[in-house]
Formats: sequence, C-alpha cells, structure tokens
Amino acid sequence: MTTTPVYNKRAWSRGYETLSEEYAYAVQTIEGRIPPELSGTLWRNGPGRYDLGGVRYKHPFDGDGMVCAVTFRDGKAHFQNRYVQTESYRKEQAAGKILYKNVFGTLRPGGFLANMFDFSHKNVANTGIIYHAQKLLALWEAAPPHRLDPHTLETVGLDDLNSLLRDGKPFSAHPRRDPVTDELWNFGIEVGLSTRLYLYRIAADGKLLTHRIETLGGLAFIHDFVITQRYAILLQNPMALDPLPFIFGFKGAAECLNFAQGQPTRILLIPHDGSPMLTLETDPFFVFHHVNAYDDGQKIMLDTVRYEDYLKAEEDRDFRETDFSNIPPGRLWRITIDPVTKKVVSQQRGLRACEFPQINPNYVGQAHRYVYMGSANAPEANGPLQALWKVDLITGSEQWYSFAPMGFVGEPLFIPRPGATSEDDGWVMVWVYQADEHRTDITIFDAQTIEHGPIAKLVLPHPVPFGLHGSWSSDFYSAAVM
Ligand code: CO
Repeated sequence: MTTTPVYNKRAWSRGYETLSEEYAYAVQTIEGRIPPELSGTLWRNGPGRYDLGGVRYKHPFDGDGMVCAVTFRDGKAHFQNRYVQTESYRKEQAAGKILYKNVFGTLRPGGFLANMFDFSHKNVANTGIIYHAQKLLALWEAAPPHRLDPHTLETVGLDDLNSLLRDGKPFSAHPRRDPVTDELWNFGIEVGLSTRLYLYRIAADGKLLTHRIETLGGLAFIHDFVITQRYAILLQNPMALDPLPFIFGFKGAAECLNFAQGQPTRILLIPHDGSPMLTLETDPFFVFHHVNAYDDGQKIMLDTVRYEDYLKAEEDRDFRETDFSNIPPGRLWRITIDPVTKKVVSQQRGLRACEFPQINPNYVGQAHRYVYMGSANAPEANGPLQALWKVDLITGSEQWYSFAPMGFVGEPLFIPRPGATSEDDGWVMVWVYQADEHRTDITIFDAQTIEHGPIAKLVLPHPVPFGLHGSWSSDFYSAAVM
C-alpha cells in the first residue's frame, strides 16, 4: 500500500539551512499565555551550520553545535543562541573552509588522498546539553563536553569534569539524572583495538562517586542508555564495520557501519552494587533512544524506540533528499528483561513512526506511565516528525497533535508543574519549524490535553534549524532577564 505524504520535502529540508546569526532578545510575539508558574530555562543543542565555504556537509550530525537558551519568568520569555566555539569551529571559521574529517561523512576537500589514514574526528559539540553542579555542558558522545557560560552561552572550553575525563575520555550526550539522589549517570564508548565502556556516577555537587570500566566484545555503537534502581542498562546494536573505505579516506566512520544480519542485539546489565556485568541476547534490532527503564520485582521494564534495520545514510545522496518511504521507521516497544532466567520479551506499544521519546524527568529509573514523542503525520507510515504524540502505557490511550503539512517538530520536553500531584501534571515544550514562513515557534502544551493544541506559542522572527536534544533547569535564569 502506498500513501501520499502530506509533507513537502523541499519545505522540510529548509529546516536544515545554516543559521549564521547569534541572537539575544526578549520574545515580542507570544500567542496564548505562558503560565506564570512556568519558570526556568530551556536549553537546547543541535547542529546550526550545515555548510562552509560553499561546501555542504554530508550529514546533519556533522553540523556545528549551536546552543539555544530560552528563559521563562513571570509569563515572559527571553531567547538566546550561540555557536559552541570548539577549537575546530574557530579554525574552520577563520579559514572559511572545511579543515577536518567528520564522523558522518563530511570529509576534507581534496578527495581520498586528503582524508587517507586520518583517524581524527571533529568534536562538533552538537548533540546534548545539561546544567549540572553549576556547569553548563554541551555534549558530543565521542569526547569530553565543552563548558559554556550559562548566562552568555560563551564557550569556556573543553571540560574534563575534575580530571574524570582526562586524556579525552568520552562522555555521551545522554546522561540520566536520578531524581531520587540527584546524581548524574553517564557512559562513554571508546573504540580502539578493543571497545571500552566507561560508566560514570557523579554527585549533585559534581564529585565523582563511581567510575567503572568494562571491555565489550565486538563493535559497539551505543548512543543512549537507561538506569533503574538496580542497574545501568545499555543495548549493543548488532553492527559490523567495513573499515577499508574509512582508512583509505573515501568515507566517514559512521558510513562504514552496517547492520550485522543474523547477529543478536546484546543487553548489557551493569549492577549498581558492583557485581559483574550480565550480558543477555535478544532478536536483532537497532536503537538510538530509550524512553526509560525500571525494576518490576525480579524483572526490568525497558521502553525504547526500535528500528528493524540500521538507518544508514544513503550513499551519494544529499540527506535533504531523504526518501522516508525507503528508510525503516522507529516504533515504540516495551522490552521485558528477566536477569535471572535471561528471558527477554518484546512487545510493540504503538503504531506511529516516532523518535525523541521523553518522560517526566522525576520518573527516570522509576515506573513511568506516559511517554511523549515526536511522530510522523501518517498513522503508520514513515515521514519527518510533524506531530506531538503522548501514549498512556497503562490504558493504551493516545493523544496526538499534528503541525502538518508545513510544521516540523523536534524533541518534546516535559516540564513538571511546581507542586505537581500526578505524573502528567505539567507542560510539554516542542520546537516547531514553520516552513511556510521559514520561522520557528516554541510551543507549550498542557501535558494532560495535548490534543487541544498549544496553550502558548513563542513566535520567533527567524528560523532555528532542527535541533537534537535539550533539557530544563527550573532553578536557572540568564543574566539578561534578572
Ligand atoms: Co540522541
């Protein structure tokens, strides 16, 4: 069965145009009403520059990191955006051309001779952002984070977290904060002759509590992880690497990865009590992002966005020309893991194509009921994210609001209402690129009534390119609005 997509590919792809300007202003046009008790700062990171010196980057994940900070106070909002001034960003900016090889296939000009035997990677600092222990950190999974001034978003420099990340140890873009202890958990994957997994546990004041190192069998492409009260859990996608095109400079590292057909997905369970890591196997699938996990008696419930194949960049094709009908959709699944019997059962929990799953952050590692995601507009077919989708995992009921045909959404973030009495008592914020006006709105939904549409909309006078991940600080205000 074929369905006609309601989106316009050209309209969608303009969300990947470089934003050169760096702004700082009070938002003038607000439709609806920002709840006065919504108070704090919304951070977001994502690629902002997609070309340099007239050369387009090959993959959006190679785009230079640009951070946005939107501060809310007394029903008003202030917007700010700045590029992360990584060393490579500054050098490329000064040269006006691409100088570095990128993980996702953007190579130096000059063909394979200019890229051969180059194992370096540009740290684009474009994937995630957190404010923890008075530090604002722009995250990129293969290297240490860049520290930014939270008031001005000026780049302070690479930060090794009090020597924890000495020698350039990786710190993933998907840390998890345990709401019970306020501790920050994160991992890092180091690919070399063997694959090393680092697991970090950092106290609310920034002090290191635990640092564990595991050696993994085979290649590990792991982007995200989850915690429960007993375990840190990582899913090791079944991947194979064809290294020659990378070594000889024809391709970036991530372009040389393939789905290893017939190999299982591995579930790595790392107990908090220090006992040895358990490895379970299940049927093969691919995962970028998890929803959450929690202990349920002896078992573990893990919700995730599952793909039946690896989303490989189409060779020699500009990502702006992506044919969504040709790439596998992500779907919401629940995986029930029994560490004792080693039994793993998977069940699909919704039909829509989806990504960027989020929950109420106060339920991380605990039993959660509601999931918020970006979803395609069609009921089942794949497509760019155009809608906000909420699923109630207990009743199976869903709420949905679409910005199609000309609106395209990013990651939804849940912000608990101060003094909230139920899990979905709060707001969901979603960035919406309005292609017809080449502009971006920041929309605010009441999380209990998603299908009614946004209760407020910050109408920005310019576009903000599609971003990746964000976070919320209820206790921080930028100097501009103090
Ligand atoms: Co991610």
